[in-house]
Amino acid sequence: MSNPRILILGAPGAGKGTQSDNLVEEYGIDHITTGDALRANKDMETEYGTPREFMEAGELVPDPVVNEIVEAALEDADGFVLDGYPRNLDQVEFLDDATDLDVVLYLDVSKDELVDRLTGRRVCDECGTNYHVKYNPPEEEGVCDRCGGELIQRDDDTEETARERIEVFEENTMPVVEHYREEGVLEEIDGEQSPDEVWADIKDVVDERADP
Ligand code: AP5
Repeated sequence: MSNPRILILGAPGAGKGTQSDNLVEEYGIDHITTGDALRANKDMETEYGTPREFMEAGELVPDPVVNEIVEAALEDADGFVLDGYPRNLDQVEFLDDATDLDVVLYLDVSKDELVDRLTGRRVCDECGTNYHVKYNPPEEEGVCDRCGGELIQRDDDTEETARERIEVFEENTMPVVEHYREEGVLEEIDGEQSPDEVWADIKDVVDERADP
């Protein structure tokens, strides 16, 4: 049986990274995340400028830069959870040509909750584990439970940039959600439940759809 190929969609702060960690642990698949890949290459010079300029404004990085990252990652993956891509309909087209998908998940969360989650998020500088000052605090303030690394706030998690990212999502990425809904493959998950409840729903769907 082959490893599942999973797409996880959701607005900024919907919990894609949090639940991708669970999927990776449960099914032993790769986590392909364009956000992390771009953050690791923020100052890379491209013909469009650096990714940093787009990310700090909350805008999308140009498609050719992101498509190249995804293409390379898909080539190496035996089963994956794809997080942060596709973010517009052109990226959907590129993805359709690159791979098939077994499961398409959409984490549905209201706008007010998204802003609260983004502005309260803290991320480990060393291992990338996500925390939240209210909903998922570390045992010791500012220190990662998993590796002892320092917890920092992402540059794009200020309230102003968070709101801009949510608007960019509504304009560019909701059509992607609609596309998969119209195809009849979208699995909608109530993302406002606790992280454990969200995970239980996701696991049920993946076990049924992907038969891993
Ligand atoms: P990216 O890194 O992909 O960010 P995003 O999509 O905005 O998503 P986030 O990582 O902010 O949120 P998440 O859904 O993973 O939530 P998380 O689990 O952390 O993209 C960043 C930028 O890169 C973009 O703005 C763009 O510029 C560029 N980019 C990336 N991909 C691109 C592409 N394809 N094309 C063009 N540009 C691209 O959770 C959030 C917080 O909530 C955490 O603190 C967590 O602890 C907490 N939390 C999670 N679940 C729950 C829950 N159930 N209840 C309560 N709290 C919860």
